[in-house]
Amino acid sequence: MADYIVKDIALAEFGRKELDIAETEMPGLMALRDEYGDTKPLKGSRIVGSLHMTIQTAVLIETLVALGADVRWASCNIFSTQDHAAAAIAASGVPVFAIKGQSLEEHWDYLDKSFQFADGPNLILDDGGDATLYILLGARAENGEPELLEVPTSEEEIAVFAQIKKRMAETPGWFTKMRDQIVGVSEETTTGVHRLYDLVKQGQLPFPAINVNDSVTKSKFDNKYGCKESLVDGIRRATDTMLAGKVAVVCGYGDVGKGSAASLSGAGARVKVTEIDPICALQAAMDGYEVVRLEDVVASADVFITTTGNKDIIRIEHMREMKDMAIVGNIGHFDNEIQVAALKNHKWTNIKDQVDMIEMPSGSRIILLSEGRLLNLGNATGHPSFVMSASFTNQVLAQMELWTNGEAYKNDVYILPKHLDEKVARLHLARIGVQLSELTKEQADYIGVTVEGPFKPEHYRY
Ligand code: NAI
Repeated sequence: MADYIVKDIALAEFGRKELDIAETEMPGLMALRDEYGDTKPLKGSRIVGSLHMTIQTAVLIETLVALGADVRWASCNIFSTQDHAAAAIAASGVPVFAIKGQSLEEHWDYLDKSFQFADGPNLILDDGGDATLYILLGARAENGEPELLEVPTSEEEIAVFAQIKKRMAETPGWFTKMRDQIVGVSEETTTGVHRLYDLVKQGQLPFPAINVNDSVTKSKFDNKYGCKESLVDGIRRATDTMLAGKVAVVCGYGDVGKGSAASLSGAGARVKVTEIDPICALQAAMDGYEVVRLEDVVASADVFITTTGNKDIIRIEHMREMKDMAIVGNIGHFDNEIQVAALKNHKWTNIKDQVDMIEMPSGSRIILLSEGRLLNLGNATGHPSFVMSASFTNQVLAQMELWTNGEAYKNDVYILPKHLDEKVARLHLARIGVQLSELTKEQADYIGVTVEGPFKPEHYRY
């Protein structure tokens, strides 16, 4: 039986063509293939990946394989898979379980399937923490805390708890075995990193973790410049609406919020920002955006985008007040930024995949994108290859470090050293014709660095 679940394996040829193009835009990953393709530092590793199954991720997967890893993959979101990318990966012989529009039950079943190496995995590559959560929650349930699976508070929890119980019944002791053989996890995104630091605080992290998100060449690029390109792309593909002149509200002005505000203002929208952090609020104001409270603009704005990684940002009382045909979407990792569950008993009209029109009791309608899940991946194809190359080069370096040097780390969360961050950036300069200046020895001495770098102290914030 085929060891994959994809929408249509016949899409593999199309996927391969786009993969070939993406490779030309992913110089960091291709440089790692050149540098380590012969020595294969990931030989012996069995990596379970839980990350949006896009064309860019396909290039990441093939880089891990080129470096010697055995890989199995699931997507970390039900709407983010690009079916032709999944097909190309399946056709290459890498087991992948991902379909755009899969159900929540399938999401957790596919994640479980991605763990099913003959000898189980020894590394996790996570985006948002679902793979880590699955194993750790299951292991706790197996080890005297079955009550953790008793009171689900969301559809998501109903699905994951059911999948854990199923696996526990089929293979007793499986989660504990998996937990004990994983040597480390690398985590892609802000929200997943929060989960990891929480686990450390609770004394519940059983292996070392590398926080890829907080490499400068990840969060200050993917989260910012990536969203700058992919947010408006998602809104346009979903709605074809004219953005110039419209009033758009961006909730949150962290890295994703900064990119999102720039995306909308680049399209000519008049952008307003909400924030709870005075530093980010001041940044937004000095970048030229009006900083407002959501309740003060909710009846007049045209587009609402959440970017906070927090929950209950756009609530039912806000959506009831919005003007007719307001567009509502989220670009943060999880779908709890918008209270979608509270809309369930309203009249929904599906316009097309991942676009719904919902009628409020007053008769006014909103357009909800991707049911509140991250719309740049649900309604478009996520960030472009070039910026994902920087993110994924960090991912591969993190996996290599955990695999070849894992004993050096405690069960804590680490960031890659600055010289590697600078290396990732350096690998992306030639593709866009950047001519880097070089320090003289005297200049380097004067500012207290070496000619080769690192060029900044740890506390520098970019
Ligand atoms: P961040 O921590 O830099 O920014 C979040 C901002 O939201 C902070 O400035 C915070 O003060 C603000 N915030 C929190 N609660 C708020 C509230 N109630 N009202 C207004 N503002 C509030 O995080 P980052 O890196 O910007 O990530 C945000 C989310 O986006 C995370 O869930 C992350 O995982 C996700 N993400 C999504 C990507 C995508 O392609 N869709 C790419 C990268 C990250």
